[in-house]
Amino acid sequence: MGDAYTLLREGGVTFKAPLAGTPSMRMPVFYNPRMAWNRTLSVLTVRLLLEEWFERRVRHLRLGFPLAASGIRVLRILEENQELWEELLEKGVHVEILVNDLNEQAIRLARENLSTPRIMTLQAKGLKLVFTREDARFFLHAHGDYDYVTIDPYGTPNPFLDGAVQRLKHQGVLEVTLTDTAALTGSAPAAGLRKYYLRTPFQSRAKHLLGLHGLNAHLERITAMHERSMSILLSMHVEHAYKSIIRVQQNPGKAARMLEAHAYALICPACHTLSDWVKPGDSSSSACPVCTARRGVFGPFTPRLAEPAWLERFIRMKDKLPRQMGRELERLHAYSQISPACHVETHQASHTLGEHTISLHQLRECLREKGVRAVQAPFHPTTLAFPCTGDVWEKLRECLGV
Ligand SMILES: C[S@@+](CC[C@H](N)C(=O)[O-])C[C@H]1O[C@@H](n2cnc3c(N)ncnc32)[C@H](O)[C@@H]1O
Ligand SMILES: [Zn+2]
Repeated sequence: MGDAYTLLREGGVTFKAPLAGTPSMRMPVFYNPRMAWNRTLSVLTVRLLLEEWFERRVRHLRLGFPLAASGIRVLRILEENQELWEELLEKGVHVEILVNDLNEQAIRLARENLSTPRIMTLQAKGLKLVFTREDARFFLHAHGDYDYVTIDPYGTPNPFLDGAVQRLKHQGVLEVTLTDTAALTGSAPAAGLRKYYLRTPFQSRAKHLLGLHGLNAHLERITAMHERSMSILLSMHVEHAYKSIIRVQQNPGKAARMLEAHAYALICPACHTLSDWVKPGDSSSSACPVCTARRGVFGPFTPRLAEPAWLERFIRMKDKLPRQMGRELERLHAYSQISPACHVETHQASHTLGEHTISLHQLRECLREKGVRAVQAPFHPTTLAFPCTGDVWEKLRECLGV
């Protein structure tokens, strides 16, 4: 292959791709080494799915990669889970992996990257690897139903979500990556409303936590529209990207209940405290219980970000993840057991109240002494989350000295 490519390593594999100072759409084939964490999550997700597919004694599997670029994600998913794939193929399971990209050079490179001796061994045992060069929107509809699909586009995943959700089998898993986070965090509020039906009147310090709640509500609306329900297995934020891993079920009854659970968060523009979750028509005071400023209405959101049981299985593999991500998963686990969770932004609250800065640790301990189980929110080191119950605000005010 031409000089445009460098021999690189990521995870447990060696492959070819172009290297650019700043990865962009102008690269001959897109590759962003800073997204290695995202591909590692895919490798581990498929590993858990392989265990599940064994247990369920599936006979046919189809995995779809509509935006495959250099094929690095497929390569890692196959090679880093090699023994499990071999075992499955030896049991006579029909496995089809569809690798697609609209860019002809990408497909040529993916084909080369995926012709390793280990993959040829899997092919000799029956693995079917199919390469196509189609518009992903067409691709998703054209080749049958999927057990697993991963979507990691430039910017918004919106063009591909309808197709993916419609073509997932019952209990199929969809990974969605999004890099237009500005639309979900309040820094581009019109785009948030337009693209994700999300109202973000200002930028909260805990904006990524809120962004993920908003993304998952968006995914729930799309699945419900197609008469399906979903569970959120895991949500992640790193740098300028969000990733949500969901499982889709063909269960319209549950879909309606899923949307019933959507709610709006009341957040203070001064101290950034999220102090209540409300439904349209609910009556609630407009005053922030910490600093009395008038609260803003954000949402709609889905209250949960992960399924604790799935996360526990994931956390058992944390030695395979960067240490920081392992910690975030543990925080996400603690956070997902509080539902719905309110939160206080310790730096912003101290600043607004004109107090010396109270640390997250101090506030957590003070609340714990008063019987409130508070945890550090995922993705935001100065945000403390706790259940929005009864006299929690009185206790919080005592801890803050107001
Ligand atoms: C962000 S990259 C994917 C990165 C890759 N999956 C990885 O892990 O390195 C997006 C890819 O989608 C492809 N693409 C963009 N729009 C497409 C479309 N409508 N149909 C198919 N491929 C498309 C681009 O050519 C590009 O390779
Ligand atoms: Zn306030």
